[in-house]
Amino acid sequence: MKTIFEPVELGNLRIKNRIVRSATLEAGGAVNGVIAPLLKDIYAGLAEGGVSLIITGMMGVGHNSCAYSGMNRIYDSTFSDRFADVAETVHAKGSKITVQLGQCGAKATVIEKGNQPYAPSECEAIPNLPAKAMSQSEIGQVVNDFGDAALLCKNAGADAVQIHAAHGYLLSQFLSPLFNKRQDEYGGSIERRGRIVLEVYENIRKKVGADYPVLIKINYSDLKASGLTGDESTWVCQELAQRGIDAVELSSGIAIDAESKPSQAVADFSKGSFSNAALKLSSDVPVPVISVGGYRTPDTIENVLNQGDIAAVSLCRPLICEPALVTRWENGDRTKAKCISCNKCFGTAYGCKGFV
Ligand SMILES: Cc1cc2nc3c(=O)[nH]c(=O)nc-3n(C[C@H](O)[C@H](O)[C@H](O)COP(=O)(O)O)c2cc1C
Repeated sequence: MKTIFEPVELGNLRIKNRIVRSATLEAGGAVNGVIAPLLKDIYAGLAEGGVSLIITGMMGVGHNSCAYSGMNRIYDSTFSDRFADVAETVHAKGSKITVQLGQCGAKATVIEKGNQPYAPSECEAIPNLPAKAMSQSEIGQVVNDFGDAALLCKNAGADAVQIHAAHGYLLSQFLSPLFNKRQDEYGGSIERRGRIVLEVYENIRKKVGADYPVLIKINYSDLKASGLTGDESTWVCQELAQRGIDAVELSSGIAIDAESKPSQAVADFSKGSFSNAALKLSSDVPVPVISVGGYRTPDTIENVLNQGDIAAVSLCRPLICEPALVTRWENGDRTKAKCISCNKCFGTAYGCKGFV
């Protein structure tokens, strides 16, 4: 019988309980891509509040990777020192921290002069900001960016890194037939659409070494007709498992309209939004699975944990309004999270004024 409050191993990453903070963009935690003091305060609150592992909001791995100016840039020259200070605080308060490595692709808006957002194929995800189909050398550069960023995070004290391959950002765009219309070896079958994800993983692994924990967040489904399917996602996860990925956080939704937004999905709060997919993946792939989406009570979480092989669950919106939720549950008040899933935190969370 699994319980929330026991340690668990996500590959080489040991965490003190089974509740993880899912990546949540802290738009006020950066000013023009540079870590701001607010970031440390947010993470200190979460660490004091009992989460075992904080996954940072997505941080940009390289040029033209950021969707917001309030998104941290790992490639900024100030990153290492400032992040080291943040990580030290999290560790002192008994939690661990994973950086989410992001490349927003066609949804990137912080674009250098003369450049365009990257995408697998030409498209316009942001009005009046057309994205270009990436050349193979640009793909190679982005793959390299992920590896370099991961090494910077490792050296600055992050306990792990997480590749963001969900929610319609660059790697998710490559995985999805809705964005990826390429005719070369990066488009077509899932073996080809998934190639960039495997290359990103391998580049990171080469740079951070065999023992450093590398996680991925990936969609099980795009929540759109003709999008990525569960079987295809399972294939990618199996390939990653064979190559040594430490854990998979399973989400869904390509976030191009209301129907495909992960936070609009469900809401059957009696079992979480995507727990069926996570249970299936955990039986199909020999790798620890973290299930995200719609978890609001400890009873639901323990119920899902005990239906199969899911190792942990992760929470986002509940921890925005109640950073100490996990400690509250641990202290015996197991009532539902205060979050009512109104989604008003989009564009307002953490000092953010409209996600710009
Ligand atoms: C304000 C906000 C910011 C988010 N930022 C990210 C992010 O940076 N990276 C990511 O993978 N997911 C992000 N998400 C999605 C969450 O990690 C999570 O998958 C989703 O909210 C469902 O979990 P929940 O029901 O516990 O909120 C964000 C969600 C919200 C509400």
